[in-house]
Amino acid sequence: MRDRRPVADTSDYPLGSKWVFPQWEGWRSMEAKRAGEPACVRGYEPGDRDACRALWVDLTTWHRDLYEAPDIGGSDPGRQFDKHLDRVGPEHVWIAETEEGVVGMTGLIPGDTMDELEPLVVRASHRRRGIGAQLTRVVIQASKERGARYLRVRPAARNALALGFFHGQGFGILGQIELLHDFRPVDRRKWREGETLADLAFKV
Ligand SMILES: CC(C)(COP(=O)(O)OP(=O)(O)OC[C@H]1O[C@@H](n2cnc3c(N)ncnc32)[C@H](O)[C@@H]1OP(=O)(O)O)[C@@H](O)C(=O)NCCC(=O)NCCS
Repeated sequence: MRDRRPVADTSDYPLGSKWVFPQWEGWRSMEAKRAGEPACVRGYEPGDRDACRALWVDLTTWHRDLYEAPDIGGSDPGRQFDKHLDRVGPEHVWIAETEEGVVGMTGLIPGDTMDELEPLVVRASHRRRGIGAQLTRVVIQASKERGARYLRVRPAARNALALGFFHGQGFGILGQIELLHDFRPVDRRKWREGETLADLAFKV
């Protein structure tokens, strides 16, 4: 018989498994609530595609606003989700769902010894409820189960909120740093002063 338990407690359940019938949608988020979780986190299902594209648009908008650069992500940013899904496979994408529907998503890019958490986004209306942390825990657990030595995340340097968030989730080690030369015309460079690393001044 199929096991219909929700993934509120992900510790003893195979990640990404499709374990529930469509009519149980509301039930599983209610179960998550009963278990004290802010959302139900489960593996990606084909019916999630539009919601995930919309979340990818949210993520792109966030970065466009951060960098005041409306061209980030191209003309159809939602399609980037399709590319990501093709690259990593549905078993490496997780969804956060409440009674209001899909409210967050995350993914894992598998590597030989180093996995990467990418993307992570929670709908603006549902932030600061612990859903981002819940999604992050699932990726950390999946990466450990794969036997990875490291899990990395590569937030944009200006994304101070994400840096603070990930630091709080245990990403406390600086790995490689990406340093840039910007060859664009001077009037298109909108970098901000004010960051220091190794006693050196950097723009972000
Ligand atoms: C980063 C993001 C995923 C966090 O999701 P979230 O569901 O709001 O995060 P949580 O509620 O789990 O927050 C966990 C902790 O992170 C910290 N945190 C999260 N958002 C914060 C904020 N806006 N300001 C300060 N601290 C914050 C807090 O310590 C918080 O715990 P607390 O609420 O008990 O104080 C979400 O803000 C988001 O989607 N941002 C836009 C996309 C993005 O930047 N993604 C990362 C790209 S690499």
